[in-house]
Amino acid sequence: MVHVPFTLAKNLHDASELPDDCAAKAFLADVIPSSSDPAYMEYVVRSALAGAYAAGTDTTVSALQSFFLAMTLYPDVQKEAQREIDSVCHGRLPDFSDYESLPYVHTIVKEILRWNPAVPLNIVHTSAQDDVYGGYYIPKGSLVVANIWAILHDPAVYADPESFRPSRFLRSHTNPTPEPDPDAAYGFGRRICVGRHLAHEMLWITIASVLAAFDIVKAKDDAGREIVPPGEYYHGFMQLPKPFRCEIRPRSVEHEKLVLGAVDKDS
Ligand code: HEM
Repeated sequence: MVHVPFTLAKNLHDASELPDDCAAKAFLADVIPSSSDPAYMEYVVRSALAGAYAAGTDTTVSALQSFFLAMTLYPDVQKEAQREIDSVCHGRLPDFSDYESLPYVHTIVKEILRWNPAVPLNIVHTSAQDDVYGGYYIPKGSLVVANIWAILHDPAVYADPESFRPSRFLRSHTNPTPEPDPDAAYGFGRRICVGRHLAHEMLWITIASVLAAFDIVKAKDDAGREIVPPGEYYHGFMQLPKPFRCEIRPRSVEHEKLVLGAVDKDS
């Protein structure tokens, strides 16, 4: 993870074949060669890019799997998002010019991170000095484990916390005081997730694009009965949904053409 992708990028760069949108491009073209110690800078860059990969993949995958689970279990949320997307995009696929115009999709991203945060017990921190918090004495050097899951399921802050309800974050006349954004999902203090803005944007564009073109519905068993996923998770440092069945199908023939057209454009 640290060496193979970077060495590949380096070889392509040497052959002038590295695409502009490669994350290593500016480092190889500029940052490393202009450093006073290029060998050390290359080591730093290799490590930083591998760090982004390590921290940004499982977390995003966990969030997207929770998204498919939530859409299977909460069809009304899905329909509401599709209504918003259709009214803004009028039959085309969303892009980042729609970022401010799809507030409900933003609340779905937030609710996924609140409902089942990818990193439920955070990365362990250490207290830099003696401290007292909530009546507890915390000596310098203690390991502090923040229970992100509990913070984001506190019924005093999030009404009916087990329910997937994105509208809790939207201000409206029926909801004049929206519930707070689930920032805790990204950790705390100086070590807060540095990829959180990228993560939100990646999740937003993926969710908006999937919902623009596809319906996510409950699968059926052999007798034609809907299968309701139990919504179970693997619990560990990361949490992610256990495999479950659902059906993902284009919303119409037109939507199918839209997706195939986008694939053709990209290839
Ligand atoms: C849904 C997506 C993501 C979630 C839920 C998430 C969550 C977290 C959490 C809880 C931490 C620990 C913060 C702490 O110690 O207090 C963290 C750290 C970190 N994240 Fe993310 N992350 C996500 C996506 C990403 C992405 C896309 C990247 C980069 C491309 C990234 C890069 C990092 C890095 C480098 C750290 C370590 C920061 C440090 O220790 O100083 N993360 N993330």
